[in-house]
Amino acid sequence: MQSYDKDREKQNKKVKNSLLFAHLIVSLPQNYLKTMMSILEGRQALKAEVMKTAEVAGYLWQNGWAERNGGNITVNVTDLVDKAIKALPALTEPKPIGVELPQLRGCYFYCKGTGKRMRDLARWPMQNGAIIRILDDCAHYVIIGDEVVWPTSELPSHLSVHARLIEKGSPYRATVHTHPIELVAMSHHKPFLGKDVLTEILWSMIPETKAFCPLGLGIVPYTLPGSNELAEATLKELENYDVVMWEKHGVFAQGLDAMDAFDQIDVLSKSAKIYIAARQMGFEPEGMTQEQMAEMTRAFHLPR
Ligand code: 13P
Ligand code: ZN
Repeated sequence: MQSYDKDREKQNKKVKNSLLFAHLIVSLPQNYLKTMMSILEGRQALKAEVMKTAEVAGYLWQNGWAERNGGNITVNVTDLVDKAIKALPALTEPKPIGVELPQLRGCYFYCKGTGKRMRDLARWPMQNGAIIRILDDCAHYVIIGDEVVWPTSELPSHLSVHARLIEKGSPYRATVHTHPIELVAMSHHKPFLGKDVLTEILWSMIPETKAFCPLGLGIVPYTLPGSNELAEATLKELENYDVVMWEKHGVFAQGLDAMDAFDQIDVLSKSAKIYIAARQMGFEPEGMTQEQMAEMTRAFHLPR
C-alpha cells in the first residue's frame, strides 16, 4: 500500500511538472511578444520618422554637442498616427505640460526622455523616448508607447513652439535643442549678443550659412532651463528666426523634420568653427562683404 502511494505521488509530480513546462512553453512567446511589440511595428511612416530622429540624435552625440543627457528633440507625429494608435490606452496618469496649448488638442509627439542620452536614443529610440498624446484639456499629456519614458524637461519650450507652428499652418514638424560648443562659447561674449551681430558674423563666414539658415540666429538672454519663461522667450524670438541661441546654454531650432532642424544648427556651427579657427591663427576673419551677401540673397531668393 505504501509503495502504491509513493508511486502515485511520483506520478502526480511528473504530471504537475510536465503541465508547468507546457504552460511555460505556451506563455513564453506571448510574454516575449508583449515585451518586443513596439507601437512602430507595421507602421512604416511613423517608424521612418522615429528612426530619422534617432539618426539625428547620433549626429548630435558625434558632434560633441550632447554630453550626458544634453539636448532634446520632439517631433509632431500626429499625421502619422492611425485609428489603432488613437484607441490605445494610456500607460500613465495625465501629467501637466506646464502650459495650456489649445492648438495641441489630440496631437501626438515623439519626445526624447528627460535624463536620457542622445547616444542611447540613437540606438534605442523607444527606450529613450516615447510617444505622448495631448489630452482634451490641452494642459495634460499621457504616454502611450512604448514604455513609460517621461518627456524632456524642456517640454514647455518644445510644445509651445509646436502649438505656434500649427497656429501658423507651418509645415515644420520638429524642434531640436542641443549644446554646440563653439556657438555656446560665442554666446559668452556680450558684444555678440546685440541684435543680428552673431547672425551677420556667421553668415559672412561661408555662403552656405546664409543660404541654408536664411533667417539667421535669434538671441534669448540667459533663462533657467526647463522654465516657462524660457519657453515664452523662445517662442517670441522664433517669430523672426528659425534657430535661436539660449545664452550660455545651447541652441533651439525648428524645421520640417529633425534632420532639417539639425542642418541649420550644423551650418551655423560650421561658421562658428571657421571664425574661431581664424582667430586662433591670429587674425580677425575678413568675412564676405555686404555686397557679396546681398548677391546671395538675390541669387537664392532668400528672405533677408
Ligand atoms: P532633458 O534630459 O530633460 O531633455 O534635458 C537636457 C537639456 O539639455 C536641458 O536643457
Ligand atoms: Zn540644454
